[in-house]
Amino acid sequence: MKDASPQTIYLKDYKPFGYVVDDVHLTFKLVPNSTRVVSKITFSPNPDATDRQFRLHGEQLKLISAKINGSDVSPVMLDDGLMVDAPNETFVWEAEVEIAPEANTALEGLYMSNGMYCTQCEAEGFRKITYYPDRPDVMSVFTVRIESDLPVLLSNGNPVAQGEGWAEWHDPWPKPAYLFALVAGDLVNHPDRFVTQSGKDVELNIWVRPGDENKCAFGMEALKASMRWDEEVYGREYDLDIFNIVAVDDFNMGAMENKGLNIFNSSCVLASPETSTDANFERIEAIIAHEYFHNWTGNRITCRDWFQLCLKEGLTVYRDSQFTSDMRSAPVKRISDVIELRGRQFPEDQGPLSHPVRPESFQEINNFYTATVYEKGAEVIGMLKLLVGDDAYAKALDMYFDRHDGQACTIEDWLKVFEDATGRDLSQFKRWYSQSGTPRLAVSEKFEDGTYTLTFKQHTPPTPGQDVKEPQVLPIAVGLLAQDGTEVTPTTVLEMTEAEQSFEFSGLDAKPIPSILRGFSAPVVLERTTSREENLFLLEHDTDPFNRWEASRTLAREGLIAMITDGVGSDTLWLNALKTAVADSTLDPAYRALLLSLPTQSELAQTLFEQGVTPDPMAIWTATDTLREDMAKSWADILPALVEETKVIETFKPDAEQSGKRALAASVLAMQTRLDGGAVAKAQFETADNMTLQLSALTCLIQADAAEDALKSFYDQWKDDRLVMDKWFGLQVAAAKPADAAKRAKTLTEHFDFDWKNPNRFRAVFGGLAMNHAGFHNADGSGYALLADWLIKLDAKNPQTTARMCTAFQTWKRYDADRQAKMRACLTRISETKGLSRDTTEMVSRLLG
Ligand code: PHE
Ligand code: ZN
Repeated sequence: MKDASPQTIYLKDYKPFGYVVDDVHLTFKLVPNSTRVVSKITFSPNPDATDRQFRLHGEQLKLISAKINGSDVSPVMLDDGLMVDAPNETFVWEAEVEIAPEANTALEGLYMSNGMYCTQCEAEGFRKITYYPDRPDVMSVFTVRIESDLPVLLSNGNPVAQGEGWAEWHDPWPKPAYLFALVAGDLVNHPDRFVTQSGKDVELNIWVRPGDENKCAFGMEALKASMRWDEEVYGREYDLDIFNIVAVDDFNMGAMENKGLNIFNSSCVLASPETSTDANFERIEAIIAHEYFHNWTGNRITCRDWFQLCLKEGLTVYRDSQFTSDMRSAPVKRISDVIELRGRQFPEDQGPLSHPVRPESFQEINNFYTATVYEKGAEVIGMLKLLVGDDAYAKALDMYFDRHDGQACTIEDWLKVFEDATGRDLSQFKRWYSQSGTPRLAVSEKFEDGTYTLTFKQHTPPTPGQDVKEPQVLPIAVGLLAQDGTEVTPTTVLEMTEAEQSFEFSGLDAKPIPSILRGFSAPVVLERTTSREENLFLLEHDTDPFNRWEASRTLAREGLIAMITDGVGSDTLWLNALKTAVADSTLDPAYRALLLSLPTQSELAQTLFEQGVTPDPMAIWTATDTLREDMAKSWADILPALVEETKVIETFKPDAEQSGKRALAASVLAMQTRLDGGAVAKAQFETADNMTLQLSALTCLIQADAAEDALKSFYDQWKDDRLVMDKWFGLQVAAAKPADAAKRAKTLTEHFDFDWKNPNRFRAVFGGLAMNHAGFHNADGSGYALLADWLIKLDAKNPQTTARMCTAFQTWKRYDADRQAKMRACLTRISETKGLSRDTTEMVSRLLG
């Protein structure tokens, strides 16, 4: 059993396991509540280890028998496994255990989802399948036999034999247990083939439940595009005869990169124009790529221990973002990533859950699959590439794959490769992995005798466990513009290493206008009081698409803050400048849609908090609403042309071009709805032949309080489609008026289709509530209390998803005393729940600080 008494594990305590595993043979006799797992494992003493203690992990297993070299042994049973005297030479361990997949609601280990068996072993799920040294530095070759009457029986690697009621699989590539997978079910496949660059023919399959086979084509194209891209850009080829993807409905995360057998949350692979939005398509393409890219960055080269999680995740996120940039638009991808980073990672890094990209301790590793490890981890790779240059990056990556293929590695190994490839000393750069918190970068400027000087000061506020911060290496991409908008200095990367540092640009005729942190070259908060005129100038002239967008975003933020704190009206100068940009048909519609997006209400709350103003969620909501209203009114004259321009007459394609048009059209529809009360939206809702148009219309109708009929007909149309119903559940809460959000969420939890044990459905409602800033933070505390009630209920079934959803409370210290007290009371109530899981215990105690 997992026990709730917190035990902290430290990076500094790492010790190799006393044995190496030569091979693993597993036999599964699948029965819903009495599955037998027979293991036969060869162990040899590990020459790199001194401690020869033979201790295996195991949780929630019923031990039937244990043998060493054929003789029965009686292990000492521990809370989290067993221990037994073992020979100091090669030996064979055999065990038989019984497990109950059908009763497994935590969705870790072997479990059942809609009648199919599937597994989730990362990070520590394999120990719920059999006794094993369940740690990523123990790698081995696996042979698996599955016995079941179900027609489709899958595991890692290549199929070796099969017959009536059984199948055998062999994975020739040594792997850690967290990459083990097994699937058994009544499934149908969408097959295809791929010929690798060296001419190897690979069988590809996407396996789904009958009825979903028409939703696989897009995922398959994305898979083939990923395979080709990794060959072309990283020189990495696939290494088995077969690659399988399986869609499952009950899954805690997005997807999992098990060797040769990726398992996906069905929401991250199934797609059709009628049921999926453009955003869904783009996300599916990215996740398929992400899991596929793990084959090299994660599987062939894995992590020594879970503290090194960013070694595979940061790099793989970085790789999938490069892929999306290549498939679609690089500036649009960059802006979207930065919105995401600021929306999820910054609040994490600036609150009680702040931790380094490579944490130094944890109680439950599941709690560290975070935006910091993933997204900031990817930013760190991007900075490294910017600092060393593209050629050196390519050289270092080749060296990484050559040197470490087949190994379980550390961040030290990763950085050493870059040091060896470039001759650079990366010891200061390494602080990006050990220091938590978001650095803040202040800038001042001077112009004298043709020389322009930029002076930067960096400073990172204290974070939990880290009061003092050292200066970090910041790549600051800067360009200089002349008053007429021409670029006098193209993008230059300044390498800042000191707490305070100046950089000079000489030979200039006049004081230039700087464009700083182009492309968001470092994940910092830029503290620069740029004048409104200067931002307006950059919005009009900046040659860097990111900073052009950023100028508008800054103006929007500053304008909204002034509306909230000083009661002024909308910034009409900015609205007019933005109007010109949005009407400019030479600009990519997707980019213009991003120009139109306003800072989130949570972001505004954070800004106010940093300025020493206690954020009032309702005031923030009202200002945002007023601004949108003013925008709609003052832009009425350009809307007809935008409607024309964004019409898609070709057959639906979820590509960058069409989805960009539809994204801009959605913003236009939102403005039209403010002007006509929902007439156009209603017509669009009724005639829409794809989910993007249907859902954008429904969103507008909800916001206009005119959605009652549409919600009913949407339900009738889609009640049998789980993934679409998740949208129906989520949107009603996320788009509700603040006063209605918690009530709406509560009503939905009483709905017949609220299958709360399904993580997607639970997240739809409560993720929707958390996203509704003013609704969640309703002054009466009803949003907080409802979420706390349900987190307590879910924790008994699914600790991992519960702990993850506790992050809705991570910004609690920003708000007024009354809200703080209410949130604290909720967190305390959760923490005092009897039998609370280790996952949620750790999260709540960190949140309370
Ligand atoms: N390793 C998975 C990924 O990043 C995420 C994951 C973690 C999935 C833990 C399940 C459990 O692609
Ligand atoms: Zn990953």
